[in-house]
Amino acid sequence: MLSVAENEKLTRTSAGTPAGEFLRRFWMPFLQSSDLAESDGEPIRLTLLGETLLAFRNTHGQVGLIQRNCPHRWASLFYGRNEEGGLRCSYHGWKFDIDGSCVDMPTETEDSNFKDKVKIVSYPVQEKSGVLWTYMGPRELRPEMPNFEWLMVPDSHRYVSWNRQANNYSQAIEGAIDSAHSNFLHSTLDAYHRTDAWRNIAERSGELRDIYHARDQHPKFFAQDTDYGVIIGARRNTGEDDYYWRLNLYLLPFYGMPPGQAKQKFFQAFVPIDDYSCERWTFTYNLDRPFTAAERAAMNKGLGLHAELLPGPDHIPVRNASNDYRVDRIEQKTLTFTGIEGTGEQDFSVQETMGPITPRPSEHLGTTDVGIIKARRRLLNAITALEDNDIEPYVVTHPDVYNIRATDLLLSSDASFIQDPKVKDLMATTWPIR
Ligand code: FES
Ligand SMILES: [Fe+2]
Repeated sequence: MLSVAENEKLTRTSAGTPAGEFLRRFWMPFLQSSDLAESDGEPIRLTLLGETLLAFRNTHGQVGLIQRNCPHRWASLFYGRNEEGGLRCSYHGWKFDIDGSCVDMPTETEDSNFKDKVKIVSYPVQEKSGVLWTYMGPRELRPEMPNFEWLMVPDSHRYVSWNRQANNYSQAIEGAIDSAHSNFLHSTLDAYHRTDAWRNIAERSGELRDIYHARDQHPKFFAQDTDYGVIIGARRNTGEDDYYWRLNLYLLPFYGMPPGQAKQKFFQAFVPIDDYSCERWTFTYNLDRPFTAAERAAMNKGLGLHAELLPGPDHIPVRNASNDYRVDRIEQKTLTFTGIEGTGEQDFSVQETMGPITPRPSEHLGTTDVGIIKARRRLLNAITALEDNDIEPYVVTHPDVYNIRATDLLLSSDASFIQDPKVKDLMATTWPIR
């Protein structure tokens, strides 16, 4: 449980707030390359950390991220002409490049230098692995890009999507690292009731999760701070001599990594749009092979943690709050725990109903919330260290600490989930650093 003041500190992200300043120290994914596929194509309106912005790809293929409104008399540059290396306001023709410089001001006389004095807000952009990244912090502190494993695998081994989610980024992170909910929210009724039918199918699967996950609905939780954030171990009884461990990672500031499967991993990011919504990113990657076209098509329809999207540039999920996530009450009685299609949709259906900012002072945290408590505290402490003592986040200047992956495994009953060499081995990434 957090105090009202702590909940405010954690969740408010506009410029000048403690969390807002902290988050601005990090590179953030904000669009897919495919969102701005065309040079001189249509710009995209977006909001990040409460700032009203516009992204566009110029004639040379470079992407700019600039303030949305023209500094002349505030018309939206969205309706501007994207032409010849810049964006020209449709009202009086002022033109801006990707750095936010005014490069043409046709309303002024030729001998005027007024345009040299006009500069708009712009943020640096990098394009990597099909994702557009920006950094909104102080220019002199701009760090290197992070070293996530999914950034290093070949393009053919990766599938990326994002969708809008109507709640604060922090409760979305807490969902991503919460290993207790999957016995319920994501369960079939057969697994939930541990029927013989489920047992037969599970035992034939090669995946540990299928075999052991539903055997124990009361996992014991352990959590420990790390350089990159927090490692959370959920330990389940197998009914034999060992334990089944699922190791979830919270990576500062807004990343979560569930264990995934032996050769297929998931990574998530929750980037604040404003204090009441976020971009929910899902990165799925194979360690050993390309995705097939059929797998890509299935993820496009919501398989895995991806969400099925409505057509258009806004990344709105097909199953969303306005249609009650298309909950099917018959299916809920007969087949699945929720009656909602899609693991991703199941996740954000509950997270959105917690309210745009969940009232943490009113919570009743239980024994399975150990990891959530630790991760919140880790983030709050890092925010406070910057706010009170100017301590820059370690992870920003040491991006190699991100070079890690989540996993699940069987461990003997006396093994440590942090120290065991098997754990270290499985969590070490194998793709080369840039
Ligand atoms: S408002 Fe944009 S040029 Fe006048
Ligand atoms: Fe989930």
